[in-house]
Amino acid sequence: MNNQAGTINNSREFEQKITLAITGASGSAYALRLLECLVAANYQVFLLCSSAARVVFDTEVGLKLPSSPDAASQFFTEKFNAKPEQIVVFGKEQWFSPVASGSAAPKTMVVCPCSTGTLAAISQGMSDNLIERAADVVIKERGQLILVPRETPFSTIHLQNMLSLSQIGVTIMPAAPGFYHQPESINDLIDFMVGRLLDHLNIAQSIMPRWGYQAFPSDKNKMS
Ligand SMILES: Cc1cc2nc3c(=O)[nH]c(=O)nc-3n(C[C@H](O)[C@H](O)[C@H](O)COP(=O)(O)O)c2cc1C
Repeated sequence: MNNQAGTINNSREFEQKITLAITGASGSAYALRLLECLVAANYQVFLLCSSAARVVFDTEVGLKLPSSPDAASQFFTEKFNAKPEQIVVFGKEQWFSPVASGSAAPKTMVVCPCSTGTLAAISQGMSDNLIERAADVVIKERGQLILVPRETPFSTIHLQNMLSLSQIGVTIMPAAPGFYHQPESINDLIDFMVGRLLDHLNIAQSIMPRWGYQAFPSDKNKMS
Protein backbone atom coordinates (compact mmCIF):
# COMPACT_ATOMS: atom_id res chain seq x y z
CA MET A 1 0.00 0.00 0.00
CA ASN A 2 0.85 3.59 0.56
CA ASN A 3 4.25 4.11 2.27
CA GLN A 4 5.11 6.81 4.75
CA ALA A 5 6.03 9.30 2.04
CA GLY A 6 2.73 8.66 0.24
CA THR A 7 4.01 7.27 -3.07
CA ILE A 8 1.90 4.50 -4.69
CA ASN A 9 1.83 2.28 -7.77
CA ASN A 10 0.39 3.94 -10.88
CA SER A 11 -2.57 1.67 -11.66
CA ARG A 12 -4.30 1.78 -15.04
CA GLU A 13 -7.05 -0.51 -13.88
CA PHE A 14 -9.48 2.27 -13.11
CA GLU A 15 -11.77 4.38 -15.26
CA GLN A 16 -10.47 7.67 -13.83
CA LYS A 17 -8.65 9.08 -10.84
CA ILE A 18 -10.20 11.67 -8.56
CA THR A 19 -9.22 13.41 -5.34
CA LEU A 20 -11.90 13.54 -2.65
CA ALA A 21 -11.27 15.66 0.43
CA ILE A 22 -13.53 15.40 3.45
CA THR A 23 -13.32 18.28 5.92
CA GLY A 24 -14.95 19.10 9.23
CA ALA A 25 -18.22 20.65 8.09
CA SER A 26 -21.48 18.95 8.89
CA GLY A 27 -22.64 16.48 6.22
CA SER A 28 -20.26 13.52 6.41
CA ALA A 29 -23.07 11.31 5.03
CA TYR A 30 -22.75 13.12 1.68
CA ALA A 31 -19.07 12.17 1.56
CA LEU A 32 -19.76 8.52 2.32
CA ARG A 33 -22.43 8.25 -0.38
CA LEU A 34 -20.24 10.04 -2.90
CA LEU A 35 -17.35 7.71 -2.14
CA GLU A 36 -19.65 4.70 -2.58
CA CYS A 37 -20.81 6.00 -5.98
CA LEU A 38 -17.25 6.75 -7.14
CA VAL A 39 -16.20 3.19 -6.27
CA ALA A 40 -19.25 1.84 -8.16
CA ALA A 41 -18.18 3.92 -11.17
CA ASN A 42 -14.72 2.25 -11.01
CA TYR A 43 -12.90 5.47 -10.09
CA GLN A 44 -9.67 5.37 -8.14
CA VAL A 45 -10.15 7.73 -5.22
CA PHE A 46 -7.30 9.56 -3.51
CA LEU A 47 -8.94 10.34 -0.21
CA LEU A 48 -7.93 13.11 2.19
CA CYS A 49 -9.68 13.50 5.57
CA SER A 50 -8.98 16.39 7.93
CA SER A 51 -8.72 15.82 11.68
CA ALA A 52 -11.99 17.69 12.17
CA ALA A 53 -13.66 15.43 9.59
CA ARG A 54 -12.86 12.46 11.85
CA VAL A 55 -14.63 14.19 14.74
CA VAL A 56 -17.66 14.94 12.56
CA PHE A 57 -17.76 11.33 11.26
CA ASP A 58 -17.92 10.08 14.83
CA THR A 59 -20.50 12.68 15.89
CA GLU A 60 -22.84 12.34 12.91
CA VAL A 61 -22.66 8.73 11.80
CA GLY A 62 -20.82 7.01 14.65
CA LEU A 63 -17.92 6.15 12.36
CA LYS A 64 -14.55 5.93 14.10
CA LEU A 65 -12.04 6.47 11.33
CA PRO A 66 -8.55 5.14 12.06
CA SER A 67 -5.99 7.94 12.12
CA SER A 68 -3.25 6.15 10.15
CA PRO A 69 -3.68 6.55 6.38
CA ASP A 70 -3.09 2.84 5.69
CA ALA A 71 -5.62 1.73 8.29
CA ALA A 72 -8.13 4.28 6.96
CA SER A 73 -7.57 2.99 3.39
CA GLN A 74 -8.24 -0.55 4.56
CA PHE A 75 -11.31 0.58 6.52
CA PHE A 76 -12.93 2.26 3.50
CA THR A 77 -11.86 -0.53 1.12
CA GLU A 78 -13.69 -3.06 3.28
CA LYS A 79 -16.68 -0.78 3.89
CA PHE A 80 -17.30 -0.24 0.17
CA ASN A 81 -15.97 -3.57 -1.08
CA ALA A 82 -13.48 -1.66 -3.23
CA LYS A 83 -10.66 -3.17 -5.29
CA PRO A 84 -7.10 -3.13 -3.92
CA GLU A 85 -5.71 0.44 -4.12
CA GLN A 86 -9.04 1.78 -5.37
CA ILE A 87 -9.38 3.94 -2.25
CA VAL A 88 -6.04 5.35 -1.11
CA VAL A 89 -6.02 7.61 1.94
CA PHE A 90 -3.19 10.11 2.34
CA GLY A 91 -2.19 11.90 5.54
CA LYS A 92 -2.12 15.66 5.84
CA GLU A 93 1.66 15.90 5.37
CA GLN A 94 2.28 13.23 2.75
CA TRP A 95 3.87 15.71 0.38
CA PHE A 96 5.19 13.00 -1.94
CA SER A 97 1.69 11.73 -2.76
CA PRO A 98 0.40 12.26 -6.33
CA VAL A 99 -2.14 14.89 -5.28
CA ALA A 100 0.64 17.22 -4.13
CA SER A 101 2.05 17.86 -7.60
CA GLY A 102 0.65 19.08 -10.88
CA SER A 103 2.74 16.41 -12.62
CA ALA A 104 0.66 13.61 -11.11
CA ALA A 105 -2.50 14.91 -9.46
CA PRO A 106 -5.92 13.92 -10.80
CA LYS A 107 -7.43 16.78 -12.80
CA THR A 108 -10.59 16.60 -10.71
CA MET A 109 -11.08 17.20 -7.00
CA VAL A 110 -14.14 17.47 -4.78
CA VAL A 111 -14.13 18.84 -1.23
CA CYS A 112 -17.27 17.42 0.37
CA PRO A 113 -18.29 18.65 2.82
CA CYS A 114 -16.11 21.77 2.80
CA SER A 115 -15.66 23.66 6.07
CA THR A 116 -15.52 27.43 5.98
CA GLY A 117 -11.97 27.13 7.34
CA THR A 118 -10.79 25.03 4.40
CA LEU A 119 -12.79 27.27 2.04
CA ALA A 120 -10.84 30.28 3.36
CA ALA A 121 -7.50 28.50 3.12
CA ILE A 122 -8.14 27.38 -0.46
CA SER A 123 -9.30 30.83 -1.52
CA GLN A 124 -6.03 32.28 -0.20
CA GLY A 125 -3.79 29.53 -1.65
CA MET A 126 -2.48 28.62 1.81
CA SER A 127 -1.33 25.05 0.94
CA ASP A 128 -0.61 24.42 4.62
CA ASN A 129 -1.82 20.80 4.58
CA LEU A 130 -2.36 18.20 1.83
CA ILE A 131 -6.03 19.12 1.30
CA GLU A 132 -5.17 22.79 0.76
CA ARG A 133 -2.16 21.89 -1.40
CA ALA A 134 -4.16 19.45 -3.55
CA ALA A 135 -6.84 22.10 -4.15
CA ASP A 136 -4.16 24.66 -5.00
CA VAL A 137 -2.66 22.22 -7.51
CA VAL A 138 -6.01 21.61 -9.23
CA ILE A 139 -6.60 25.38 -9.45
CA LYS A 140 -3.13 26.12 -10.87
CA GLU A 141 -3.42 23.26 -13.35
CA ARG A 142 -6.86 24.60 -14.35
CA GLY A 143 -8.60 21.36 -13.52
CA GLN A 144 -12.07 20.86 -12.09
CA LEU A 145 -12.46 21.75 -8.41
CA ILE A 146 -15.86 21.41 -6.72
CA LEU A 147 -16.45 22.63 -3.17
CA VAL A 148 -19.50 21.66 -1.10
CA PRO A 149 -19.52 24.23 1.71
CA ARG A 150 -21.96 23.92 4.60
CA GLU A 151 -22.67 26.66 7.10
CA THR A 152 -25.64 28.81 7.92
CA PRO A 153 -25.84 31.71 7.73
CA PHE A 154 -22.87 32.42 5.49
CA SER A 155 -20.88 35.45 6.68
CA THR A 156 -19.63 38.11 4.30
CA ILE A 157 -16.17 36.51 4.62
CA HIS A 158 -17.52 33.11 3.52
CA LEU A 159 -19.43 34.70 0.62
CA GLN A 160 -16.39 36.70 -0.52
CA ASN A 161 -14.23 33.56 -0.44
CA MET A 162 -16.81 31.65 -2.48
CA LEU A 163 -17.11 34.52 -4.97
CA SER A 164 -13.36 34.82 -5.52
CA LEU A 165 -13.09 31.05 -6.11
CA SER A 166 -16.12 31.00 -8.39
CA GLN A 167 -14.57 33.80 -10.45
CA ILE A 168 -11.53 31.64 -11.21
CA GLY A 169 -13.64 28.66 -12.27
CA VAL A 170 -14.14 26.71 -9.04
CA THR A 171 -17.64 25.23 -8.74
CA ILE A 172 -19.38 26.11 -5.49
CA MET A 173 -22.17 23.62 -4.72
CA PRO A 174 -23.45 24.38 -1.21
CA ALA A 175 -24.94 21.41 0.62
CA ALA A 176 -28.46 22.63 -0.10
CA PRO A 177 -30.68 19.74 -1.23
CA GLY A 178 -33.99 20.64 -2.87
CA PHE A 179 -37.38 19.40 -1.72
CA TYR A 180 -39.22 19.45 -5.05
CA HIS A 181 -38.58 15.74 -5.60
CA GLN A 182 -40.65 15.03 -2.46
CA PRO A 183 -37.97 13.26 -0.41
CA GLU A 184 -39.25 10.55 1.92
CA SER A 185 -36.04 9.97 3.83
CA ILE A 186 -32.71 11.52 4.72
CA ASN A 187 -31.17 9.21 2.11
CA ASP A 188 -33.30 10.93 -0.55
CA LEU A 189 -31.85 14.30 0.51
CA ILE A 190 -28.31 12.92 0.48
CA ASP A 191 -28.87 11.43 -2.97
CA PHE A 192 -30.15 14.76 -4.26
CA MET A 193 -26.80 16.39 -3.44
CA VAL A 194 -24.67 13.44 -4.52
CA GLY A 195 -26.66 13.08 -7.76
CA ARG A 196 -25.94 16.71 -8.64
CA LEU A 197 -22.25 16.19 -7.82
CA LEU A 198 -22.11 13.13 -10.08
CA ASP A 199 -23.75 15.15 -12.86
CA HIS A 200 -20.97 17.74 -12.58
CA LEU A 201 -18.39 14.98 -12.65
CA ASN A 202 -19.99 13.55 -15.80
CA ILE A 203 -20.69 10.23 -14.10
CA ALA A 204 -23.93 8.56 -15.22
CA GLN A 205 -26.34 8.25 -12.31
CA SER A 206 -29.97 7.55 -11.60
CA ILE A 207 -30.02 8.10 -7.85
CA MET A 208 -32.18 11.21 -8.17
CA PRO A 209 -35.17 11.89 -10.44
CA ARG A 210 -34.61 14.53 -13.11
CA TRP A 211 -36.60 17.72 -13.36
CA GLY A 212 -39.32 17.41 -16.00
CA TYR A 213 -39.15 13.59 -16.20
CA GLN A 214 -41.24 10.98 -14.43
CA ALA A 215 -39.55 9.32 -11.47
CA PHE A 216 -39.34 5.55 -11.76
CA PRO A 217 -39.41 4.12 -8.25
CA SER A 218 -37.41 1.08 -9.39
CA ASP A 219 -34.59 3.45 -10.39
CA LYS A 220 -34.17 4.73 -6.87
CA ASN A 221 -30.89 3.97 -5.11
CA LYS A 222 -29.48 2.41 -8.26
CA MET A 223 -26.24 3.58 -9.83
CA SER A 224 -26.22 3.20 -13.58
C1 LIG B 1 -19.86 18.17 14.79
C2 LIG B 1 -19.23 19.37 14.12
C3 LIG B 1 -19.90 20.01 13.12
C4 LIG B 1 -19.34 21.11 12.47
N1 LIG B 1 -20.03 21.70 11.45
C5 LIG B 1 -19.44 22.67 10.73
C6 LIG B 1 -20.11 23.20 9.58
O1 LIG B 1 -21.21 22.79 9.21
N2 LIG B 1 -19.44 24.11 8.83
C7 LIG B 1 -18.18 24.56 9.16
O2 LIG B 1 -17.62 25.36 8.42
N3 LIG B 1 -17.54 24.10 10.26
C8 LIG B 1 -18.13 23.17 11.06
N4 LIG B 1 -17.49 22.65 12.16
C9 LIG B 1 -16.22 23.29 12.60
C10 LIG B 1 -15.01 22.77 11.82
O3 LIG B 1 -14.88 21.38 12.00
C11 LIG B 1 -13.76 23.49 12.33
O4 LIG B 1 -13.80 24.86 11.94
C12 LIG B 1 -12.46 22.86 11.84
O5 LIG B 1 -11.37 23.65 12.26
C13 LIG B 1 -12.42 22.71 10.33
O6 LIG B 1 -11.17 22.13 10.01
P1 LIG B 1 -10.89 21.50 8.58
O7 LIG B 1 -11.24 22.54 7.57
O8 LIG B 1 -9.43 21.20 8.62
O9 LIG B 1 -11.71 20.28 8.48
C14 LIG B 1 -18.06 21.58 12.86
C15 LIG B 1 -17.38 20.90 13.87
C16 LIG B 1 -17.94 19.83 14.50
C17 LIG B 1 -17.18 19.12 15.59
